[in-house]
Amino acid sequence: MTLFAAARLPREILFGKGQRRVLPAVAAKYGRRAFVCTDERFAATSQFAEILAGLHDTTIETLVYDRTLPDVPRDSVAACIAEAKTFKPDMVIGIGGGSCLDMAKCAALLLSHGGKLENYYGEFKVPGPTLPVIAVPTTAGTGSEVTPVAVISDPDRTLKVGIASPHLIAAVALCDPDLTATCPPFLTAIAGADALTHAIEAFTAAKRGADPHLPQQHVFVGKSALTDHFALLAIRLLGRSLEKAYRDGSDENARADVMMGALAAGCAFGTAGTAAAHAVQYPVGALTHTPHGLGVATMLPYVMNYNLAAAAAEIAEVGTALGLSPLSGRDVDALAHATIREVSRLFGAIGITPTLAKLGLPEDKIDWTAEQALGIDRLIKNNPRPFDLAAMRRLVRAAYDGDMSATMM
Ligand SMILES: NC(=O)c1ccc[n+]([C@@H]2O[C@H](COP(=O)([O-])OP(=O)(O)OC[C@H]3O[C@@H](n4cnc5c(N)ncnc54)[C@H](O)[C@@H]3O)[C@@H](O)[C@H]2O)c1
Ligand SMILES: [Fe+2]
Repeated sequence: MTLFAAARLPREILFGKGQRRVLPAVAAKYGRRAFVCTDERFAATSQFAEILAGLHDTTIETLVYDRTLPDVPRDSVAACIAEAKTFKPDMVIGIGGGSCLDMAKCAALLLSHGGKLENYYGEFKVPGPTLPVIAVPTTAGTGSEVTPVAVISDPDRTLKVGIASPHLIAAVALCDPDLTATCPPFLTAIAGADALTHAIEAFTAAKRGADPHLPQQHVFVGKSALTDHFALLAIRLLGRSLEKAYRDGSDENARADVMMGALAAGCAFGTAGTAAAHAVQYPVGALTHTPHGLGVATMLPYVMNYNLAAAAAEIAEVGTALGLSPLSGRDVDALAHATIREVSRLFGAIGITPTLAKLGLPEDKIDWTAEQALGIDRLIKNNPRPFDLAAMRRLVRAAYDGDMSATMM
């Protein structure tokens, strides 16, 4: 086999306790005028006041937009950039959860290229570089600080939509685990479970071949040597510390592990892509209005079980990264099954809903959910085991009923 890899990442990734204090020095490399996108929660913190004071001390002028809403409603982006146009920023700084980072990416896009957000939905629609974005996450989950995607809710569409382009990758990802210390247990759980799902779906994604044109035609290109490296790092860190961070939010080492895990998972799926657990979450999220991280995590064990027929070796390797004892005395299939049980156990321990029924999916929407999920081509073709409608219906039904064995057919 010819070795193949692709990776698209920020110019600079900075990680560690106290890193937020270097934001002024980092920002000064990009100009003197910063448009700062955050939300009301973070804007009210002393950490934000310190960050702004630091920027001003470095003679960087700021304009703050502090009304970012969860899940980035489309029209809120237009309102956000209306305020920034006359300010003529040199850069956009996003500080907050994935929603604030995605808002910053969308603002940089529209300030640079104009037009409407919907002109850019899909892959490779962004015509060129945007204003530089400095992404400073306060949750440990989405990986948006390093990914080429912004996710938006559009009132004219049932499912959330994505803008995927290498031009959307932040110039700098600046990650300070202290900023996640205030995340309550449920947010820690759903964001961290989203990150683990990113890493496992990237690591078990289809090998899409070594066609040299693939990364020029698609933003997400499947599993490869470099993304595997980041995915395994993420799985190791999240496996050893997500439950600890959930149980004791003041455990600084666990917080750092989980934030690095989310970052590494972003580095993996930002090029490899995710797969069926994410595809099913889109319609489930639209119907149940439950958080993204919760829905993907509910689906993940069922999807892994469905994928056993095509990716048992990779799933077994996930188990080793999660800390299960390696192969001696058991075969790949036994380790792969134990891996899925371990993922279910971990998710149960941090309060992830175990079935789609408990998530609130109406039973009469199972078929619709399956049809919508199957239609998300970029995710479905990344799944290691192919789907047809009947197989997708069986998967959604199995996850609804909590019947793991029904995914195997
Ligand atoms: N761009 C990507 O690559 C990517 C990947 C996955 C998900 N997403 C998107 O990211 C969004 C979800 O992001 P998220 O899970 O980070 O949550 P979020 O940004 O939507 O924030 C959720 C809530 O948590 C609060 N919050 C954030 N940080 C906090 C902290 N440190 N302490 C206390 N509260 C805090 C926020 O104020 C908000 O009320 C969704 O829109 C999802 O679709 C994007
Ligand atoms: Fe996700």
